[in-house]
Amino acid sequence: MPQGECALYTQSLNQADTATPVRPVDYPEQSARFQARIDADDRIEANDWMPEGYRKTLVRQISQHAHSEIVGMLPEGNWITRAPSLRRKATLLAKVQDEAGHGLYLYAAAETLGRSREELFDDLLAGRARYSSIFNYPTLTWADMGAVGWLVDGAAIMNQIPLCRCSYGPYARAMIRVCKEESFHQRQGYEIMLTLCRGTPEQKAMAQDALDRWYWPCLMMFGPPDGDSLHSDQSTAWKIKRFSNDELRQKFVDATVPQAQYLGLTLPDPDLRFDPADGGHWRYGAIDWEEFRQVLSGNGPCNRERLAARRKAHEEGAWVREAAAAYAARQAVHKQAA
Ligand SMILES: [Fe+2]
Ligand SMILES: [Fe+2]
Repeated sequence: MPQGECALYTQSLNQADTATPVRPVDYPEQSARFQARIDADDRIEANDWMPEGYRKTLVRQISQHAHSEIVGMLPEGNWITRAPSLRRKATLLAKVQDEAGHGLYLYAAAETLGRSREELFDDLLAGRARYSSIFNYPTLTWADMGAVGWLVDGAAIMNQIPLCRCSYGPYARAMIRVCKEESFHQRQGYEIMLTLCRGTPEQKAMAQDALDRWYWPCLMMFGPPDGDSLHSDQSTAWKIKRFSNDELRQKFVDATVPQAQYLGLTLPDPDLRFDPADGGHWRYGAIDWEEFRQVLSGNGPCNRERLAARRKAHEEGAWVREAAAAYAARQAVHKQAA
């Protein structure tokens, strides 16, 4: 798989260049001590010694996660001005603002590993960095706000809860708050779906159409199947990754099926069936990995639009950054004079 073929916010670990060897030959004692701390479930902090591969993997993962949060504001930001009521508008606005906050915590966590927010942001705007494939799909109707909250934020929770126990302290701590907010996002999305499903036949059809369009891309968010995943062993040994892509995807399907049944909606998978083996699981049909590859390689429905929107916002916000820097410089002079 080419570099950057990540999928879910943080499933960026199947890349050859992120799995830089620990170099135990160069630092045998530090490496052994580091791994012993990880094995003892100790948290690694910013000033602690760490292998370069660990640092690089985390910078890549956390920055991709941060980029996903702020690009993820765009599909929903699209509906703030057209929300059907003041209550819906206020809730959606709060949700989109939460995503900006998630981006901020995560850029700050990445900065503790030695890369500045400006550098990371430049990588995104120049097209050198990746973000979650899901945000390259359009939000066509109001029901998409329901489907995105329910399924996209729901998938994000599946992936992010184990990250609250990630071995890197600043990332794990950021995830605790992020997960609480994601849980609100998921509920608000599900509640939109429920309202539509209890409404007119046209509203219910709109909810079904949104589910039909978002379901498969959400399953793709968990990344390539385990058979195609390389190098996740190292991330597992470092206790960054705790579940495989397929394990998380299965958990998500198992959670989603009864939720869809409660709504009275049909998941768009004719091969979906209940398998009583192994505690009972809902087995899903074949995923179109060609679509996934196309979206990741820049050919999704909205790839160009998303980056163009981020670049425009960055340029239009230049005066704010300049004013903040000028103010900070003046405050520093006053402080010195005092
Ligand atoms: Fe988020
Ligand atoms: Fe969210």
